[in-house]
Amino acid sequence: MTITYEWRGDVDNSALNKLHAEGFDHPVGQTDWRARLQRHSLGWVCAREGHRLVGFVNVVWDGGVHAFVLDTVVALRNRSNGVGAALVKAAAEGCRAAGCEWLHVDFEDHLRSFCFDACGFRETTAGLIAL
Ligand SMILES: CC(C)(COP(=O)(O)OP(=O)(O)OC[C@H]1O[C@@H](n2cnc3c(N)ncnc32)[C@H](O)[C@@H]1OP(=O)(O)O)[C@@H](O)C(=O)NCCC(=O)NCCS
Repeated sequence: MTITYEWRGDVDNSALNKLHAEGFDHPVGQTDWRARLQRHSLGWVCAREGHRLVGFVNVVWDGGVHAFVLDTVVALRNRSNGVGAALVKAAAEGCRAAGCEWLHVDFEDHLRSFCFDACGFRETTAGLIAL
């Protein structure tokens, strides 16, 4: 079945909580994604197969030219089919249309190939503090 990608589409909290738990290996949460996204995000992309949510990426920003992707996730059974890369591509298009000039990401080492080869991020130096 065809997969569709929607920028700032309607989000079902329960479906996204399940997908996030599957992708990031934690118990299913109760996050009110709709409220969080509306309040804090520049946008987000939902990937759907029919009505089923199969992928998601969240895009936060500084209100200017910098945006940052978070929570990139694809359902286990839909992986390795280009859905993750297509989510990031759609996110980048949304950011460009909003006037952003830079899209940032950070990731664990095993995702280098996904980020650099599949998504087209270029390598930079970045830092992180656990709070
Ligand atoms: C990372 C993730 C979103 C990738 O989704 P996907 O739909 O499988 O990605 P794509 O099919 O677009 O990937 C294209 C290529 O990226 C690379 N890649 C993707 N996932 C990878 C992984 N987990 N480890 C190493 N390389 C990976 C591979 O080269 C892959 O090509 P291949 O499947 O032919 O080997 C998915 O694995 C996922 O949801 N992981 C759990 C959540 C997570 O870690 N998110 C990342 C936060 S930055």
